[in-house]
Amino acid sequence: MLLEIKNLTASVEGKPILKGVDFSLDAGQTHAIMGPNGSGKSTLANILMGNPEYEVTGGSLLWNGTDLLGLEPHERALAGLFLSYQYPVEIPGLTVGKFLKRAAETRLEGEENLNVGSYLKEIRENMEFLEMDRNFINRYLNTGFSGGEKKRMEILQMLMFKPRLAILDETDSGLDIDALRVVSRGVNRLKGPGFSSIIITHYQRILDYVKPDRVHVLYDGRIVESGGPELVNELEKKGYEWIKKQVRGEVSHEQSVHSA
Ligand SMILES: Nc1ncnc2c1ncn2[C@@H]1O[C@H](COP(=O)(O)OP(=O)(O)OP(=O)(O)O)[C@@H](O)[C@H]1O
Ligand SMILES: [Mg+2]
Repeated sequence: MLLEIKNLTASVEGKPILKGVDFSLDAGQTHAIMGPNGSGKSTLANILMGNPEYEVTGGSLLWNGTDLLGLEPHERALAGLFLSYQYPVEIPGLTVGKFLKRAAETRLEGEENLNVGSYLKEIRENMEFLEMDRNFINRYLNTGFSGGEKKRMEILQMLMFKPRLAILDETDSGLDIDALRVVSRGVNRLKGPGFSSIIITHYQRILDYVKPDRVHVLYDGRIVESGGPELVNELEKKGYEWIKKQVRGEVSHEQSVHSA
């Protein structure tokens, strides 16, 4: 198992947000996480990356069998975890080109020198693939970028870093139809036995392009329903009310699954 989360509980500023998340993902798999606003999806993503604002209060996180909680955020990135942020940060003063170059140098850990020429070539190729204007390389990271441009920038980073696990937190939100296709192509480009992804989304659209192996519903800090891709259609049709009812014990699992 590449990632194994067991009974994970976590708080933000003393408030419990995750209340016992169980989740596992194999190498090469694509999982989707859906769920109502405020259910803890971004919290889970941030905890996987080791964001210190979130406090893990219980449970375990295993990455290839080793304890992820013992790793610092930069070590997690080096181990192959990548998060495409729901709200990418603007960094005035740091150009896209410098940022990507520095990130690549960090990854080499001083073992060898980065071949700047070929790295630049790879950036340009990926930008072309993502239909991004070349001039973005000289612009300050995310500064003044439109919502959709920021999301494309996240995917450019993903293509450059080639993570083993990419967590895409609403990367599809705010994208126009063409951009959605381009971003999905980016994810599909990396797909293979050495690449897994967790796609956090509110919409079916991106999952039409990037087929998930499993779909999970996170509600009130727990995964309350899991299934195959057909679960997405069901959620699209029925919304979350049936899941909430099921959690409250007002209907049985069987009843809610079979009622339209
Ligand atoms: N830094 C924080 N300070 C206070 N509360 C927080 C913080 N981060 C998250 N929360 C709270 O934790 C809960 C879960 O938030 P989270 O962002 O994980 O939800 P989400 O499932 O990603 O929602 P959305 O679909 O709207 O993105 C929310 O009630 C939110 O207000
Ligand atoms: Mg979120």
